[in-house]
Amino acid sequence: MKTDTGQDVRLEDYRPTDFEIETVDLTFRLDPAQTRVTSRIALRRRSGTKADVPLVLDGDELNLVALKINDVAADNECFAATPSSLEIRDLPETEVFTLEIVTEIAPAENTKLMGLYRSNGVYCTQCEAEGFRRITYFLDRPDVLAVFTTCIEAPTNDAPLLLSNGNPGETGELGDGWHFAVWHDPHPKPSYLFALVAGDLAVVRDWFVTRSGKPVVLEIYVEHGKQIRANYAMDALKRAMSWDEERFGREYDLSVFMIVAVSDFNMGAMENKGLNIFNDKYVLADSDTATDADYANIEAIIAHEYFHNWTGNRITCRDWFQLCLKEGLTVYRDHEFSADMRSRPVKRIAEVRLLKAHQFPEDSGPLAHPVRPEHYSEINNFYTATVYEKGSEVVRMLATILGPTEFKAGLDLYFSRHDGDAATIEDFLKCFEDANQVKLTQFALWYRQAGTPVLTVSARFDGRARKLMLDIEQSAPATPGQPKKRPMHIPLRFGLIDADGAEIKTSDIEGIDVTGDVMHVKRRAHKIVISKVRKRPVISLNRSFSAPINIHFEQGTEDLFHLARFETDAYSRWQALNELALRGLIAATGAVRDDTDIVPDEALVSGIIASLEDGTLEPAMRAQAVLLPGEADIARELGNNIDPDAIFEARNGVLDIVAMTGADAFDKVADGFTPSGRYTPDAESAGKRALYLAALDYLSRISLPADALLPIFRSADNMTIMAGVLAILAHRFPETAAAETALAEFELRFRENPLVIDKWLQIQATIPGQATLARVKQLMGSNHFSIENPNRVRALIGSFSAGNPTGFNRADGAAFAFLAGLIIELDARNPQVAARILTSMRSWKSLEPVRQEKARTALVAISEQPSLSPDVRDITDRTLG
Ligand code: ARG
Ligand code: ZN
Repeated sequence: MKTDTGQDVRLEDYRPTDFEIETVDLTFRLDPAQTRVTSRIALRRRSGTKADVPLVLDGDELNLVALKINDVAADNECFAATPSSLEIRDLPETEVFTLEIVTEIAPAENTKLMGLYRSNGVYCTQCEAEGFRRITYFLDRPDVLAVFTTCIEAPTNDAPLLLSNGNPGETGELGDGWHFAVWHDPHPKPSYLFALVAGDLAVVRDWFVTRSGKPVVLEIYVEHGKQIRANYAMDALKRAMSWDEERFGREYDLSVFMIVAVSDFNMGAMENKGLNIFNDKYVLADSDTATDADYANIEAIIAHEYFHNWTGNRITCRDWFQLCLKEGLTVYRDHEFSADMRSRPVKRIAEVRLLKAHQFPEDSGPLAHPVRPEHYSEINNFYTATVYEKGSEVVRMLATILGPTEFKAGLDLYFSRHDGDAATIEDFLKCFEDANQVKLTQFALWYRQAGTPVLTVSARFDGRARKLMLDIEQSAPATPGQPKKRPMHIPLRFGLIDADGAEIKTSDIEGIDVTGDVMHVKRRAHKIVISKVRKRPVISLNRSFSAPINIHFEQGTEDLFHLARFETDAYSRWQALNELALRGLIAATGAVRDDTDIVPDEALVSGIIASLEDGTLEPAMRAQAVLLPGEADIARELGNNIDPDAIFEARNGVLDIVAMTGADAFDKVADGFTPSGRYTPDAESAGKRALYLAALDYLSRISLPADALLPIFRSADNMTIMAGVLAILAHRFPETAAAETALAEFELRFRENPLVIDKWLQIQATIPGQATLARVKQLMGSNHFSIENPNRVRALIGSFSAGNPTGFNRADGAAFAFLAGLIIELDARNPQVAARILTSMRSWKSLEPVRQEKARTALVAISEQPSLSPDVRDITDRTLG
């Protein structure tokens, strides 16, 4: 399987390697321009592999310096080395033999940030998915598991700290100011989990005793002076470690667990065995520089990477098609962790918002793919919302379908049966089947069929017969390569609520299997009869979002209001109100386009305000209630012929009316907010801040002008309020003196802190309207921006293209053209980040015709570049369709 040239790789072509690698002994002689890597690997010819089968190792931009076979310099005739492969013929006839491969690489010139590179003077690695082949020639695929020993040599001054996977071994001096350290990882692992860090970093140290009594040293490495900002990450790590023991029975398995924060990183973080490497954005936090959202992300990502130690490392993936095996399951685990640490319904709302904002559009556009794809040309483009977020929802559905005890039994079997394996989705599902004597054949379609399923529902109540009739039909839209879909097993949680708001117990249901409050939709169509229903009930469907689907149900507004008030499931109350708000916003968008007045339903407006005032709800929930669907939500619901300006105007119109009607209530919230002295990042305090900021945002539409917001900004004593108020100022009052003053003061205060400057860039990049493109261009020229740093690029360009519907989708197409130019420039440095940013154009076909044409022109301009990376080539081709 070759993957670095953009060829199509297919799941059906999988076959095991002809050779196994038993041990790997690596020696790194570190130098920014010329690092020498000596790799001694012990290979074993698999039984059945003929003696004349050559060994083909993967490489990527490599330079072979020397090759020995069984310690003898290899004959030139018996191997062929190119930058992307090393093919060895004439291998020893013995079953076992060794290779010694010497390569030379230049970490300082590695701008792709894959393999070994330098970040702020620190050597670090990123090997998933195929970065190890940029270090040495190897069988760089996840089903080749070997025991690694790593020796790092470096000048003591430059790199006093030398880290790799596993347990620390010998260290010592080498003379000439050089030193070395050896690390040994006893757990066989694939190359993508290899890591090395060398440099001058500070450490925060703590410890943890596992429930079987094994002590573990915990270390978080950060730049000098930033130690104090790693305390929250450490706290989250310890909580994650105990939670995984309690909830899933998983213990840590080495004597040391290390996390290193680096400032140049393509993704969020990486679960390398015993040595996680993190984007520093997901480690560093204090109240002056991090928002509540940052804290929540840190907690979730620290947990996510830690949880990978079992779901990913102890049990890894057979091939990259199985990526969701580790990612979907690990996201599910981190979601459950956050739900336990915080408020479960509020967490569920955040998950659903994220899923709908990122995964649903992906699933309905040209980049749609199954949770387990069947082919790819560039695997890095498959670290997607579908693999991660929908992958997690699929695991959640499995738990819903089986029930908690049965789910646990299946997972326990998975951990015991596949420990040490490189497994597949089939292996995973088989454990749940075997543990519970069930068949999951139909359920498995969730992994194979792309597209968001649609349930079309209609209901009729026959009062005389006391019967409720439900007709449910499922369908799934065509997606690339999959015109037709088979019916899936959809677990639909439901409830019936009576006129007084009480839950109606149902026992007599025909036409569908029901367990507890879950209907098992399996056929294309179900005619369901629920008997012994005395009075007309209000139906609640997809409670707690039990399935990642769209529901078409012409449910009356009164019924939705009833659910918004009385549903016993807190998530579903929000869902009902949100659905009502969405309907109101869609109607308002129609009004704007027809040039008529925006008149939102009075009941909607008062419903929103009632939730705001509902003292029985936790503040975070009240904040969610007034946080209406965003512009992207409205666009997604409309589906085609999108005019982002009309959506923006319509949404503002509705928000203005809510603000005016609820002025007293918003005032009360704002006045009642007492910055309670010392900042704490807990969910409850965060909820109060979220509610306060939501109130300010509404008030900024009526009684709180820019000049009144400025002092609030200035007196903020934590980053959540400060950045929140700055965003309101900049977005609601662009280019006013107050907004520009606040931006300037913020910049002055935080100019030495790039992670905070990212917020400043992002807030400006998401100022609505035409004018923002010029601002983005100007910010690109400021010394805060660097195209070399992925966080800066994402903060400025990524949030402009993915988070500014009116600014990015300017009708004249200028922002599309700008993005095309930038993608081409960035692609030459860092293809992975370029390809990721480009996915912000995935919904171009749903724009109105004028914009659509401009978007196509920009995509074609990219496509016509002769030397695109496989990454950007793949996204461009698929996006153009
Ligand atoms: N496995 C990492 C995670 O925890 C993601 C790393 C992906 N990196 C990449 N270059 N594709 O989600
Ligand atoms: Zn992950």
